Amino acid sequence: MRHLLGLRELAPETIELILSTAGPMKEILGREIKKVPALRGKTVATLFYEPSTRTRMSFELAAKYLSADTVGMAAATSSVTKGESLLDTIRTVKALGADIVVLRHPSPGAAHLAARVEGCSIVNAGDGTHEHPTQALLDLFTIREIKGRIAGLTVVIVGDILHSRVARSNIWGLTRLGARVRVVGPATLIPPGLEQVGVEVFHDLREAVRGSDVIYVLRIQRERQRQAFFPSLREYTRLYAVTAEILDLAKPDAIVMHPGPMNRGVEIWDEVCDSPRAVITTQVTNGVAVRMAVLYLLAGGEVKRDHH
Ligand code: CP
Repeated sequence: MRHLLGLRELAPETIELILSTAGPMKEILGREIKKVPALRGKTVATLFYEPSTRTRMSFELAAKYLSADTVGMAAATSSVTKGESLLDTIRTVKALGADIVVLRHPSPGAAHLAARVEGCSIVNAGDGTHEHPTQALLDLFTIREIKGRIAGLTVVIVGDILHSRVARSNIWGLTRLGARVRVVGPATLIPPGLEQVGVEVFHDLREAVRGSDVIYVLRIQRERQRQAFFPSLREYTRLYAVTAEILDLAKPDAIVMHPGPMNRGVEIWDEVCDSPRAVITTQVTNGVAVRMAVLYLLAGGEVKRDHH
């Protein structure tokens, strides 16, 4: 792997390789001293043009646990505010010594553009509404860890599909690995053409959730909505919030996932996200292991396979 830009362009074998490399990385996270020398001498730079808690901190921890040097930049407090372009910023970070650049940016395609700069690897940490590949990889890892498989499972993605890079990356990853994917939300928040990539589209939450193995709840992304996509938040919540009653329609061992940050009381109820069936904090922990695997493979690491 030279870059990680999206799941759309990844073959199932490459996705499997990342997931199987994340297994031994998770084992390192369980040790008293979480440190291995795999990336000693490498430098990882995190460039965030949008806010983040989970992705940024987990990439920084992943790099540190692998003994890389880390440096971070938030656009709002950088020379981006003086007009420096994305490509000039990447060139600058590369000249400072970065081997791997983790980039979050509001524009779809920003990571692909950044990858034009020779000499460093780019990891897409979310580019606008386009893709968030490491989120989907950690979600795939979590599903497989809990369910033992991905192929044949029914995964329902609920909510704002239109603006969700998490949904897009998960749709590519889940379908590549053989899951049945349903999406559900108001017609205004479902992009056209999903049926062509094998996704079932629903507008009734109860119908969509019935008999499912995984309920994946998305955040309503009001910061990306330039028009009214539903009459009111109250109306949205009445039709699409995941409550205990909705969860009861899924299989008895169904799990609930959310990429975070959550809007409690909007898309998900406390009784669901605080229940034992929610695996949201496990997703966060697994994010560190999966990002360790991604950094390790990009740095040319020797691959260790687990039993999957
Ligand atoms: N899921 C996710 O990307 O969270 P952050 O925005 O906090 O990184």
